[in-house]
Amino acid sequence: MSRVLVIFDTKFGATREIAEAIGSALCGVGLPADVEAVSADPDITKYSAVVLGAPVFCGKVEQPLCDWVHANRDALAELPTAVFVVGASARDDTPETRAALDSAMEQALCDVPNLGAGLPRGRFAGRIDANKLPAPTRFMMRMAKLPVGDWVDLDRVHAWAIGIASRLV
Ligand SMILES: Cc1cc2nc3c(=O)[nH]c(=O)nc-3n(C[C@H](O)[C@H](O)[C@H](O)COP(=O)(O)O)c2cc1C
Repeated sequence: MSRVLVIFDTKFGATREIAEAIGSALCGVGLPADVEAVSADPDITKYSAVVLGAPVFCGKVEQPLCDWVHANRDALAELPTAVFVVGASARDDTPETRAALDSAMEQALCDVPNLGAGLPRGRFAGRIDANKLPAPTRFMMRMAKLPVGDWVDLDRVHAWAIGIASRLV
């Protein structure tokens, strides 16, 4: 029986929302999926495919996803896997923003070369809520004129998930 693990990392919640939308879309087309935070360290042996994603902060994917990929690299190399990445820069879909987001994710996945390469990469805009940021970060972002806003587009996320579903079985 096919069962997909949708595993995500998040700091402020946008990637959780995106992962949950992916899980619902897969279930909606008859592909059972569990949505799990990387911090829960889900058991990969229960699954026949994996969708994994994380946000980018300061040009990097944070350590928890890298650690989980490292710990599960042998199993991941054998399973159909799709990868998505979340960042503010995805709100402008240009070759440059794609390259920056991809490069951050490639570094996180370096233990399993070509992981997710057979399936379209998801690149989704996230959210920056100034009220959730610590004061020094808020200040830094204001000085650097970095944007604040909510660019999460769950219709795009849903369309991507439907597009990859048949390739996860
Ligand atoms: C301090 C900080 C640094 C960030 N750096 C980047 C970045 O380098 N590239 C990018 O595309 N988005 C960047 N973002 C935007 C986050 O990726 C975006 O807020 C994302 O939705 C966070 O995911 P989360 O809500 O799941 O934690 C940054 C956000 C913050 C607060």
